[in-house]
Amino acid sequence: MPLITFAGHTYQASSEKPLLDSLLAYRLPIPHSCQSGFCHSCLMKADKGQVPACSQKSLSNEKIRQGYFLACQCVPEQDIEISLPVRNKIPGIITGKTLLTSTLVALDIAPRHPFHYEPGQLVTLWAEETLRSVEPGADYSEGLNELARPCYLASLSGQDASLTVHIQRRASRKFSQWAHDCTQIGQKISIGDVRGANIYQQLSSSNLIVVQDGCLAPVLPLLRKLCADTTASEKSVTLVLQVDHTDNLYEQALIHRLVRQSPNLSIQVCGGLQGKKQLETIMMEPKPVYRQLIIAGDQGFIKKHTQQVQMDIQTLPYS
Ligand code: FES
Repeated sequence: MPLITFAGHTYQASSEKPLLDSLLAYRLPIPHSCQSGFCHSCLMKADKGQVPACSQKSLSNEKIRQGYFLACQCVPEQDIEISLPVRNKIPGIITGKTLLTSTLVALDIAPRHPFHYEPGQLVTLWAEETLRSVEPGADYSEGLNELARPCYLASLSGQDASLTVHIQRRASRKFSQWAHDCTQIGQKISIGDVRGANIYQQLSSSNLIVVQDGCLAPVLPLLRKLCADTTASEKSVTLVLQVDHTDNLYEQALIHRLVRQSPNLSIQVCGGLQGKKQLETIMMEPKPVYRQLIIAGDQGFIKKHTQQVQMDIQTLPYS
């Protein structure tokens, strides 16, 4: 069994399961959320020893060089000494809270320091200050370690005063429950580093954007930027909104205003069971004019709808 040294103490870790599981079994305060390599809230640093390359594959070269890795993706193969990184977090205040559908809430957040971000990018939000110093032997199991979540920024940098995120209610996610039930205007929240690709920059001449139920946030800033960009007349976007129930449609006034404003933007709503079939037909035989598919949804939705697609694909996964 590999030996893991953390905060001056040494622990035995399993060589068959993720390091995060072993550390949490010792009730250590390791921040985590998705446990699937997406949110980066379990980012740690190997100060001595090597971690498997697969635990670093979504990190920048600079971070890899410095020994950072994701604890949820790391099945240790040797003894290592690890630490929690110092995180760049910006304090923010919740300035708005709107229920968009019965299961989707929008939070507006004013960061203490304004910062720039691009359409399609996300930040990790932290419910409270969760990275406390580690006291050996203390039991952190009831702490706030899971109250972090990556969220796509639904606002447009340079246009909107606040950051806006949309959070789906999920019974199994503590952050989601906290965001829906415990937040109020004036409350503090911490904002992590911006990450993710600038999908606006990657738009091709003809784009098909497919959005799963409740996943409009990552594409809203792209649509707004496209409609405001007078130099983008050669770029066209067809937006296909899949919704299980029409009650789940939101921001429709904004979307239709954008469609009226821009001849380059069209929209198709695929609602209910019939809509699912419509979407399958669209994906089986996408019009040859499309050069690129941008798809936002959960992993299963993305996998299902990209298997046979022959064009360039940009994914905006939800954890
Ligand atoms: S908990 Fe490891 S990346 Fe999300």
